[in-house]
Amino acid sequence: MSEQKKRVLTGSRPSGLPHLGNYFGAYKPLLDLQESYDLFFFLADLHALNGADSAADLRQQSLVMMATLLACGLDPHKGLLYAQSAVPEVCELAWILGCQAPFGMLTRAHSFKDAQAKGQDVNMGVFNYPVLMAADILLFDADVVPVGQDQKQHLEMTRDFAQRFNHRYGSILHLPEPKISDELALVPGTDGEKMSKSKNNVVSVFATDAEWKRQVMSIVTGTQSLSEPKDPVTCTVFTLYKLISSPNESAVMAERYRAGGYGYGHAKLALIEQLKLVFGPMRERYFDWLKRPDDMRDLLLSGSRSARVMAQRKLEQVQAAIGVIGRPF
Ligand code: ADP
Ligand code: TRP
Repeated sequence: MSEQKKRVLTGSRPSGLPHLGNYFGAYKPLLDLQESYDLFFFLADLHALNGADSAADLRQQSLVMMATLLACGLDPHKGLLYAQSAVPEVCELAWILGCQAPFGMLTRAHSFKDAQAKGQDVNMGVFNYPVLMAADILLFDADVVPVGQDQKQHLEMTRDFAQRFNHRYGSILHLPEPKISDELALVPGTDGEKMSKSKNNVVSVFATDAEWKRQVMSIVTGTQSLSEPKDPVTCTVFTLYKLISSPNESAVMAERYRAGGYGYGHAKLALIEQLKLVFGPMRERYFDWLKRPDDMRDLLLSGSRSARVMAQRKLEQVQAAIGVIGRPF
């Protein structure tokens, strides 16, 4: 990794099979930065404790997330790929930051308010979520943090916690800049609403041919007959096709929509073929990685070792600044 490049850091909770919304909204924008930044990506497995059904579930979802990123093109030799749980310094920094995090501010966090509004089990993990996330970021001096719109408030809190710390103890923590994915990246699901695992409206990135067919055929479309002209812009089938095609290919489909004599069934078949073309090779790599869990664990272990060395160095600076004398510096 070079000295000049800025550091981009992000984490993802291992939570279920990836869909096109995750790919275009999160993974692809991140991997596009791989060449121009020093990339730090971590499996946010401690953050996922609140969502996982069981230990076996968390283990399996973690491997799925690893296989997904590796198949999509994350190069563990270019960037740093590690597990949050393998860097316990994150939890220590979270405690330290928590000692200055105002209770009132944490009660206003969307994550906490949403969980409360939905009647979910609101435990200290949910309440402290923004503090742990700040520690993930500040421990590694991240310059840029790409996140979805829903995480913007957490980033603002991270900057706030860092400023409070620096004000009291000196300039130790580096303030990160958020990189919020824009509205363009909002991928619609089969019902036309935002694609989301919880809404059961997904088109998966790594499905079998039969599963892709089932998902694409269930996309809700207009009711015009085959011969009638159709508007591509308002059609989910076209929107998804456009995401995974060249400008030329999507222009051809748009023209067919407008000309009439082209049915939604035709467009759906074209979309299925395009999915096979674009994601077929990635799908092979994905299933291949899933068959090699030990290799994935080795990769994670090696990245986590390097991450930990960096984390320890940073935490020592923090410890020296706050006046704890339990360790030799
Ligand atoms: P889900 O809603 O399916 O549970 P997550 O909340 O796990 O998805 O999202 C993981 C990441 O994928 C988020 O950071 C978000 O930026 C991105 N993402 C999820 N759904 C979409 C979508 N429909 N369009 C664009 N980005 C999405
Ligand atoms: N909170 C993020 C999410 O739910 C995941 C996350 C945890 C994260 N720690 C982070 C993202 C640090 C960026 C940086 O999507």
